[in-house]
Amino acid sequence: MIIDVQNLVKRYKELTALNHVNLQVQPGEILGLIGPNGSGKSTLINCILALLKYDRGEIKIFDQPMTPNNYAVKSRIGIVPQEIAVFAELTVQENISYYCGLYIHDHQELTNKVQQAIELVGLKDFVKFYPKQLSGGLARRLNIACGIAHQPELIFLDEPTVAVDPQSRNHILESIKYLNEQGATIVYTTHYMEEVELLCDHIVILDQGQIIAQGTTEELKAMVKNHEKILLNIPLLTSVQVQTIQQLPAIQQVSYQNQQLEITSADLEQTMLPLLEYLQQEKIVYANIHTQQVSLNDVFLTITGRQLRD
Ligand SMILES: Nc1ncnc2c1ncn2[C@@H]1O[C@H](COP(=O)(O)OP(=O)(O)O)[C@@H](O)[C@H]1O
Ligand SMILES: [Mg+2]
Repeated sequence: MIIDVQNLVKRYKELTALNHVNLQVQPGEILGLIGPNGSGKSTLINCILALLKYDRGEIKIFDQPMTPNNYAVKSRIGIVPQEIAVFAELTVQENISYYCGLYIHDHQELTNKVQQAIELVGLKDFVKFYPKQLSGGLARRLNIACGIAHQPELIFLDEPTVAVDPQSRNHILESIKYLNEQGATIVYTTHYMEEVELLCDHIVILDQGQIIAQGTTEELKAMVKNHEKILLNIPLLTSVQVQTIQQLPAIQQVSYQNQQLEITSADLEQTMLPLLEYLQQEKIVYANIHTQQVSLNDVFLTITGRQLRD
């Protein structure tokens, strides 16, 4: 096990920021730590990294207790903090070289690793730039390069895509995938469900300091009863017709409001053809037929009764 957190409790005065959190991270996985703002994601990461003191619990990284001065462990870890942490008076290249040089002392190896990090995050054209000359997205990429250039086994990225343009976001997600393919274990926090769905093997949903659900994307989605939705516009539908549709295979629920028919089905393939046949047979006019998968947002909504993003 790469990370083992047992029964972690962290309080800021009266506020319990982490309430008996247990978390295990296996080698080679991308763990997505997701939750709304203030749910405790950064606090959890900072406790794991021994950057914060905690009130209760046990944390091990690489089967060792983490302490602020455990450089042997630290050299195996890459940290990309939520707040961009680079030196204003150093260029892109110098910043990456500084951070990488904390752990890599051989000159040639350092040069190579810095070069690889620059290529990975796509900052080749900006090596001589100073941080304040970079757009938000490029500054984020620099922050990432600084955290990962020494090619650590375990990488923490705390909301690395907040307020970045779509191009940088895609680039960042691709880079993370690549780092994982090269063997790194990754802990990734975000409040964007789409990102964890895309990227992560294992997902932990945090809400108000507690883990409210965890599993693979599929396992989490299975917690939500209605598996798929079919939506279509129908100007006119009688209640008898609605009732008939209700009897079609695999259908769980049918609602018809404001000319919109919404069907939830346990199995789209079983429902779709009979539905279309019925509509045709009854000569029912319809438009804009489309289907919707349940998303992790639906999972969060089901468990908490709230939207992930307010
Ligand atoms: N240094 C601090 N002092 C007091 N409260 C804090 C501090 N840091 C975070 N908090 C509070 O702890 C909770 C969790 O915060 P945080 O871990 O930053 O959440 P997230 O990273 O999920 O947005 C929030 O309610 C936040 O206001
Ligand atoms: Mg945070």
